[in-house]
This record gives sequence, structure tokens and C-alpha cells, in this order.
Amino acid sequence: MPAKISGTRHKVDVLIIGSGAAGMTLALNLPGISNIAMLCKENSNDGSTYYAQGGMAAVLDEYDSMESHIEDTLIAGAGLCHRDVVQFVVEQSPNLIDWLITMGTNFDRRVSSSGKSEFHLTQEGGHSHRRVIHAADATGREISNRLGSALSKRSNCTIYTNHIAIDVITSDTLGGSPKHCIGAYALNMETRKVDLFQADYVVLATGGASKVYLYTSNPDTASGDGIAMAWRAGCRVANLEFNQFHPTCLFHPTARSFLISEALRGEGARLCLPDGTPFMHNFHDEAELAPRDIVARAIDHEMKRVGCDFVLLDISHKPAAFTKKHFPNIYSKCLEFDLDITQEPIPIVPAAHYTCGGVMTDLNGRTDIKGLYAIGETSFTGLHGANRMASNSLLECMVFARSAAADIATQTAPVVNMKSLPSWDESQVTASQEDVILSHNWEELRRLMWDYVGIVRSNRRLQRARRRIHLLQQEISDYYRYFRVNSDLIELRNLTQVAELIVHSALKRQESRGLHFNQDYPELAPDIHDTILEPLNYR
Ligand code: FAD
Ligand code: SIN
Repeated sequence: MPAKISGTRHKVDVLIIGSGAAGMTLALNLPGISNIAMLCKENSNDGSTYYAQGGMAAVLDEYDSMESHIEDTLIAGAGLCHRDVVQFVVEQSPNLIDWLITMGTNFDRRVSSSGKSEFHLTQEGGHSHRRVIHAADATGREISNRLGSALSKRSNCTIYTNHIAIDVITSDTLGGSPKHCIGAYALNMETRKVDLFQADYVVLATGGASKVYLYTSNPDTASGDGIAMAWRAGCRVANLEFNQFHPTCLFHPTARSFLISEALRGEGARLCLPDGTPFMHNFHDEAELAPRDIVARAIDHEMKRVGCDFVLLDISHKPAAFTKKHFPNIYSKCLEFDLDITQEPIPIVPAAHYTCGGVMTDLNGRTDIKGLYAIGETSFTGLHGANRMASNSLLECMVFARSAAADIATQTAPVVNMKSLPSWDESQVTASQEDVILSHNWEELRRLMWDYVGIVRSNRRLQRARRRIHLLQQEISDYYRYFRVNSDLIELRNLTQVAELIVHSALKRQESRGLHFNQDYPELAPDIHDTILEPLNYR
């Protein structure tokens, strides 16, 4: 049997798990805290934030209004948004943009008809005004770079790259009460040992779970770790059946689901069948600018009806100079695949894009466990309802990061004896000889979620998915018990957990609303409710 092997023990004030828009904004808003640790799986640009294209929704135009942004969000959310939360977020949008500008963020500008320099605002699905502020078609990269650079000048925050959090630690595991979060275990990928981070406050900023699907616009980090960790620790989760599929990802044998921003449709791109026939007007009055759930379902419907592997998105009627200026990143990426979008339409398919549900929080990002916060895509705040409106996510990440930071700054830290916190114990496990089981289970899980829990669902498909997921969970939990952890095992354990919660939530919702469409219940039910799952009363 191997000896007890454990990694380094750290003691910090605040542990932030995740370095995306949510995590970085939180760290930058804690100037009074002397010792912050931030973990990320690979590097500080590895999350979805870096890949965000279209931009951030904010009320900045004199002809726009808070009421209109609130109303559009409520409509896109199909009756499930929490109005108070929508108002809370929307009202902070101009102030947040000012803060980003003070951090050095450069948003695109244009010269108005009266000769004034002003922000160039673009339009996306569900928005009744041009209100998406952006940095060309690589807004996330600009924001990540600016926040990252501001953070590198702060002496109070250490970024631990190549560290994968495994689980949070709560005081009840030491026999303490009341229950509060006191740290986390994380696998250090360089030493291959599990480090202990003791912290007064732990913030889950781990992003979404779209990697649970075979085809996704998300980077590899999106394995739902924060949701799974919070659930195992005893937090409630909500509305996990609402998985958003982005309508337009590049269809190409060697392109890894590269996103083609909704902003193209905002600037006039049309969706057509492979023979060039437009179809969105058959599905919604707003055609290409209908909310995202409607566009993705329309594409899915047309692909099945016609029997094609993709449909087309066409912006080739716009002047080439316009397209190259507004979408330089998309233009050059497509060119790598011999596709000149100024001359020809782009083959596209929908792909899993955003997790609307997550760990339940209040307006300060507090979860059900004292000392544990959840912010960004990993959280469920009530903003998005049954369908997130385009470009409301970065906004939510940063609004809640700032309110969580303000909340943490006013708390009195609990007293915990560091010595009593156990180090990770590997004395009962061995190195795995059978990693092929992991890769096989990865593939199976993601494919069955795609086939049975995708854009169009049915009871039979969901039940089939649930049976398979339960078997996978048993295998993975045996694996976790007997073998040393590695990144694949940590992520697969989390993804399987989140997949199970998604399917459970989908089976509970006996209606079709927003992103959740079940053929066995094609109508809206009169009763409007969130799907809340509680670890203590689960089943
Ligand atoms: P992320 O940015 O995903 O960061 C997650 C972080 O957590 C990463 O650093 C990761 O390493 C870390 N992490 C995860 N698990 C662990 C673990 N176990 N241990 C340690 N670290 C961990 N939204 C908009 O509003 N506008 C847009 O234009 C837009 N475009 C998008 C385009 C693309 C291609 C994608 C994928 C998403 C887009 N979105 C957009 C959505 C938006 O980008 C995300 O919802 C948002 O960036 C999430 O930020 P986050 O900070 O919550 O998480
Ligand atoms: C996009 O640019 O289409 C993505 C916008 C978003 O997901 O909010």
C-alpha cells in the first residue's frame, strides 16, 4: 500500500476557484484583503471568458432604457427570470462598463452622425435596441487581458495555475458546527500531489458545464466542477434543465465547434438552407434576431426536415471591408479553413454553449453554506430564467463578483485551527492501470447527453439517459475510491454528477419552456416555478 502522500498546505483569506471574468473581477474588488489565492486549471485565460465574442449588454444609448433591457431579458427568459435580480443586474450595467474602462478595457468606438465619438453598440437576439458593447469580435480576450494585467499588479493575489480543485471542505467534516466552508483540496498538476488550501471564504467561479455535451462552443475547462462540488457539499442547485445551445458554430470536420457570433445576425447575416432558402421568418417575427432557444430549435427542425448536416449563415452581401473590420477574428479563423466569409456562406450547426442553471445564490453570491460563494456561470442567480439573453452573461459575472466582494469585505472571519484540517490521504489508493475506462466513459457520457438530452427531448430519451448515467456513476465512484486522482477522473466525476442533475431536472419539468423542449409535454404549464434540487431531499 502506498504511503500517505500529501501536497503543500496553504492558509489564505479568500480562495477563488476560477480565473474568468467572475473570479478576476472578484479579486480586483478585494483590495483590503491581504492574502488571496486564485486557482485555475491551466492558465488564467483558460475559461470561456477569453473566448467571448459578441460583447456585454449594457444600457448606454440615450434612446435605450433600463426598462427596455429588463423587459427584453424577461421575455427571453420565458417567464422564469426573477424580476428583482434582472433589475439589480441591468441597473449596474453602465457603472460596470465605466469600471472596465478604468481597468484599461478598450471597447470599439464609432463617429456619430453629429461627429461625436461614441461606443459602437451592436445588436443580438432578443434585444430590442443596439446595446451590446464590444471589442470587435473578441470582447472576452480584451476583458481577460485587461483584468489579468490589472491583477498582476496587485500584490495580494497569487494565481496558482495548473491546480484543479477536487472538493471544498466544510467544518462539519471536523465535527464543527454551524457548518461553514473552510477550504478546498486541489490537485497540483505539476507535483501530482493534492494541496490543501485553508480559507476563510471560498468562491466558486468555475464557469459552466457545457462540456457535458459532445459538441460545445466552450473550452475544456467547462466541466461543471463548481456545481458538482457545491452539490456534494450540500448546496441546492436550480434550473439545470436549461442548457443553452448556441445556434451558430462553424461546421467543419477539423474545427472544434468554433463560435460564429450572434453579432453577425445583428449586422444582417441570414440563415438559409443549403440550397440558399431563408427560413427563420417561418419561425418568429424577429427572424434571425429571435431569442436563441427559438433560433437553435428552428435550425434543428430544418436540419431534420431536410436531412442535412448543417445550414448556412450568410453575411457575404455586406461590403467585405465592413465584415473584416467588425469580425476580424471570425474572418481570419474561417479563412484558416479556406472559407472566405465575405464571399460565401458559412456552414453552421448548433452546439452546447451556456449553463443557465447552477448553484443557488442570493444577490451577494452567497450559497446555502456559510463562507461559500458562487459567482458567474456556475451560479444560479435568477437572472436568465429559461433562456439567457445574448451578452447578459459577462454582465452577470461581474455584477455578482462585485457584490460578493463587498459582502466578503464586511464579514468577520471564523476561527479554525489549521492543524486539525486533515491533509489529503492517498494511503488507500493506487495508480490506475486502466485509464481506457475513463476515456471510454467520457465519450459515452457526452454522446448520450447529446443524443438524449439535447435541443429536443422526450421522456423515453431522458429515462434512457438516466439509466446509463447511473451505471457510469457507479463505475466512476469505484474508480475514485480505489485509484489516485488525475484531471480526467476529477472532471468525469463532476460531469457525470452534473449530467445526472440535468436529467433529473429535465424529468421534473413536465412542460416545454425556453430552452427545455420535451415532445411529450410540448405546451407551457400554467404553474411557473424553478426546478430546485436539494441534496438532503434528493430523489
Ligand atoms: P470562465 O470564464 O469559464 O472561467 C472558469 C475558470 O474556472 C477557469 O479559469 C477554469 O480553469 C476554472 N476552473 C474550473 N473548474 C476548476 C477547478 N475544478 N479547479 C480550478 N479551477 C477551475 N457571454 C457574454 O455575455 N457575451 C459574449 O459575447 C459571450 N460570448 C461567448 C463566446 C463563447 C465561445 C463562449 C464559450 C461563451 C460566451 N459567452 C458570452 C458566455 C461567457 O463567456 C461565460 O458565461 C463567462 O465568460 C463565464 O465566466 P466565468 O468567470 O463564470 O467562467
Ligand atoms: C455571441 O457572440 O454570439 C455569444 C454571445 C453570448 O453568448 O452571450
